[in-house]
Amino acid sequence: MKKIIFSGIKPTGIPTLGSLLGAMSHWEKLSSDYNCLYCVVDMHAITIRQDPKVLRENGRNLLAWLIALGLDPEKNILYFQSNVPAHAELSWILNCYTYVGELNRMTQFKDKSAKNTENINAGLYTYPVLMAADILLFQTNLVPVGEDQRQHLELCRDIAGRFNKVYGDVFAVPDAFVPPVGARIMGLQNPTDKMSKSDDNANDCIYLSDSPDSIVKKFKKAVTDSDNQIKMSEEKPGISNLLTIYACVKGITLAEAEAEFSGAGYGHFKQSVGEAVAQTLAPYQQEHARLMADPANLDAIAAKGAEKASEMALKTLAKVKNVIGFN
Ligand code: TYM
Repeated sequence: MKKIIFSGIKPTGIPTLGSLLGAMSHWEKLSSDYNCLYCVVDMHAITIRQDPKVLRENGRNLLAWLIALGLDPEKNILYFQSNVPAHAELSWILNCYTYVGELNRMTQFKDKSAKNTENINAGLYTYPVLMAADILLFQTNLVPVGEDQRQHLELCRDIAGRFNKVYGDVFAVPDAFVPPVGARIMGLQNPTDKMSKSDDNANDCIYLSDSPDSIVKKFKKAVTDSDNQIKMSEEKPGISNLLTIYACVKGITLAEAEAEFSGAGYGHFKQSVGEAVAQTLAPYQQEHARLMADPANLDAIAAKGAEKASEMALKTLAKVKNVIGFN
């Protein structure tokens, strides 16, 4: 029996280079050795107010990205979270096994509520519990995510352990897979903050759909420093971020990336990183456009994925309801 991978991504905009390098690029690599479920987590997306038309379009767009990036829908289960009600059901149950003190410690809740003062809703607060339900529903062994999700994964493990302690081995306790390089891609304009699709400054972020021209321009404008040395260093967040991006897209080590640009000027370096990223994204963009031209095919893939995911999820949910003592 192959082990199980689950991961999710929110359809809150066009995916970024950060989510590609921190998470999605690893999903494809892991998919031959595991049974994988990759979920478009639209229920997580509504913790921030969404325009219905845009949300629906973003969801389909994101599904097309997953396939364009190499996830074969015949071998991986790809689906929308809202199409599998077991996520919401288990989430409620797990809410009753999660402490308010634990949720109060979640740094993403603190960050997001600080940015979103007019809509600090309960969903934003219990978001990590829904995430735990996503994962635990499938007896997941491994969860490939970027660094920012590590704390949520720890909470998920704690909830699973607590539940198992009361009721026996109901859930597999999952491990996080956080890549050694690229787990936290920073913004190009503000390299001390994570690259994020919700950032107001479009130059800060590379979207997977950006044209080659726009990608190179954004890299040329990337914030660096004034000392002209291309090396990894905590004191050089901008340069370190660019080296990391370059190493990831070229499939080389950070040391190899440093060696390649030793003695080069910043202008040449930034241009090279931009070109490497544009070249990497071009074939995915073509495939994405091809997939988007056939929405009925995407809908069929999502429907089939939801059916398979439901079947798996209902097994765990039945076990949970039984041990709890529901009639
Ligand atoms: P989301 O949609 O914000 O991001 C999707 C994945 O991309 C990673 N990521 C990054 N990695 C490196 N550098 C960055 N700048 C960067 N930005 C995003 C994220 O770490 C994530 O792995 N809560 C999750 C979605 C989710 C989930 C789950 C994940 C819901 N349920 C269950 C795993 C398992 C989120 O908001 O991801």
